Amino acid sequence: MKSSYVSFTLNGEEKELLIEPGRRLVDVLREQCGATGTKNGCGQGSCGACTVHIDGVAMLSCLLPAELVDGSEIVTIEGVVRNRVLHVLQEAFLAQAATQCGFCTAGMIMAAKALLDCDPSPSRQAVIEALSGNVCRCTGYEPIIAAVLAAAATLAKRPAAAAAA
Ligand code: FES
Ligand code: FES
Repeated sequence: MKSSYVSFTLNGEEKELLIEPGRRLVDVLREQCGATGTKNGCGQGSCGACTVHIDGVAMLSCLLPAELVDGSEIVTIEGVVRNRVLHVLQEAFLAQAATQCGFCTAGMIMAAKALLDCDPSPSRQAVIEALSGNVCRCTGYEPIIAAVLAAAATLAKRPAAAAAA
């Protein structure tokens, strides 16, 4: 099979790339787009480090052939920062010491953001379930759960327009 052109929006920027058949989205993001915040961990759908948003849904970019995202809107951790201001989740991860080596952090935040985007006031159990596909070898998970709940509490105090950021 020949390479083909694939078009998508990455963090608000239009992309049209020549992509080899079967090439994984995580590799395209990291190697052809420079979006190295998305990590390639297990490469087989087990760790969540490669989590990105495809049309608003958290998905594992190591399992996705890039040709399938043609026409999609993709957001990576680089797109979560607005005007050089950290997202409330990123601030909460720092405040709660929810990141240590940092390898899992981008995937954790993308999974958590997908949760908060549809459930702004999640229960602790909902947070645990939303992050159940994301592995962390450093933190013991409690600081991560606390960070997501703290971020939700912060967002709840903000006006609706700001909370959507
Ligand atoms: S790198 Fe995709 S799930 Fe581990
Ligand atoms: S902070 Fe090291 S794997 Fe999560």
